[in-house]
Formats: sequence, structure tokens, C-alpha cells
Amino acid sequence: MRKFLLTLTLALMPGLLLAAPSGGNYMSANVDPHDKQSLQRGAKLFANYCMACHEASLMRYQRIGQDLGLSDDLVEQFLIFTPDTQIHDVMTNAMTEEDAEQWFGAPAPDLTLYARRHGPDRLYTFLNGFYRDDNQRWGVNNTVVTGVSMPHVLQSLQGMPEPVYEESNGDRVLVGTDVPEEAAGSVSQAEYRAMMRDLTNFLDYVAEPVKAERERLGYRVLIFLFIFLVVAYLLKREYWKDVH
Ligand code: HEC
Repeated sequence: MRKFLLTLTLALMPGLLLAAPSGGNYMSANVDPHDKQSLQRGAKLFANYCMACHEASLMRYQRIGQDLGLSDDLVEQFLIFTPDTQIHDVMTNAMTEEDAEQWFGAPAPDLTLYARRHGPDRLYTFLNGFYRDDNQRWGVNNTVVTGVSMPHVLQSLQGMPEPVYEESNGDRVLVGTDVPEEAAGSVSQAEYRAMMRDLTNFLDYVAEPVKAERERLGYRVLIFLFIFLVVAYLLKREYWKDVH
């Protein structure tokens, strides 16, 4: 029995160690690589709202079309906005790191692997975490990245949230954000969160495009191993039948 438990622990170890890093008090993005419609909406949001500054330089437009079930025509229509960009190009933009440094005070990082590195929940919380702060260069701060150099580029959708503080042992602790009615954007807060989930879902897919396939294959392998276990057990019984 002890041997069995040891083997089980060793077998599960890599999975535990490789699980996406979490930690911090992040909201749950609840990503689903099989939800193609959510991924399509996320791709559109990324192309429209993020690519002016950020790249996903390890991903090709054509691959997105293939994985998300979009024809080349649809990809060109909804995701590509610059005349020189072709369907088989990677998702880059014309902004250099020096330009970004000069304009924003920090380079806008390439987002291809962000969700893999930091986990989708951090990304989701970051996108929901902008709030008004008049002392900052762009008039906003962020609950995840304090002193953020990124403007709140989704203000037209979300509106401008105010910080929400709570007293804790005499200290003022930032616990979240809330959009006052007079600063509302074009969508409700629930709609905004749903859109940010789509965007996070898309960037999580970009960070590991084979995830959906890997999960599908994983289930098949488990089913195969289970059937094999039964066969192996029956065989063992057959072989040892005459020995006992
Ligand atoms: C106007 C330019 C601009 C646009 C548009 C923009 N960003 Fe940013 N973003 C930045 C800059 C600059 C930084 C670096 C911020 C810093 O280091 O303080 C950044 C940082 C980030 C980070 C890293 C946060 C961290 O953990 O340090 C993420 C994630 C991110 N942006 C996501 C997005 C997404 C998603 C969109 C589209 C909705 C977007 N950004 C649109 C300029 C932009």
C-alpha cells in the first residue's frame, strides 16, 4: 500500500509542479479553451483594443483562423487592420520599444506568453483592476500593477471606476473598484467582465494553442489506460491461475 501511495504521488508530481502559477488574491477567469465563440470574441477585442501597443509576436493570424473555425476572409475582415499585413504574418505592430518607453514610460510587453507565465487569473484581474487616480500620468492606477504605465484603454466600455477602500487595523486597504453611475461606459459591469473573460480566454489560448487538443487527447489516453488496466489484470489472473 505504501509503495502504491508513493508511486501515485510521484505520478502526480509533475502535474502539480507544472500547474499554472496562481497566488495573490485574483478573480477567477474561468477560462475554457473549448469555447470557440468566446475565443473569437476575445480575438476581436485583442485586435481592436490591444494591438496598437501590444504584440503577440509568436502567433500567426492564419493559425487563429484554423483553430477558432474562421475562414481566411473573416480573419482579414475582423482581425487585420493594416494594409501591409498578410494572413500568414505574425501578430506584430509598428511600435518600437523605444517609442513605448518614451510615450508611456514603460514598454508594452509582448502578450504571447503572458497568461502562461502569470496565469489567466492575474490577467483577468488586471483588466478589471483599473481605477481613477489623478496622481498618475494617465489618471489611472491598477489593483494588480501599482503605478501602472498603461492607460485605461477600455474606459469607453467600462467607464471610469473609483477605488474602494476598507479600514483594516487603522490602515486603508484597497479592496476593489466600483464604477459610479455618472462615470459609466457603454456596457454594464457584468457585460464588461464577460468581455474581459473572452479576452483573457483568447490570450490564454494564444499562450498555449494546443491546450484544447492536449486536454482532448489526455482524456483519450486515460480511457485507453483504464481499458489496458482491465486487460492487464485479466491476463495476470489467467497467468497466475495455475500457480496458486
Ligand atoms: C496605449 C498603449 C496600450 C494599449 C492600447 C494597451 N496596453 Fe497594455 N500596457 C501598455 C504599457 C505601456 C504597459 C506597461 C505597463 C507597466 O509596466 O507599468 C502595459 C502592460 C500590460 C500588461 C502587463 C501587466 C503586468 O503584469 O505588468 C498586460 C497584461 C496588458 N498591458 C494587457 C493589455 C491588454 C489585454 C490590452 C487590450 C485591452 C492592452 N494591454 C492595451 C500599453 C498599452
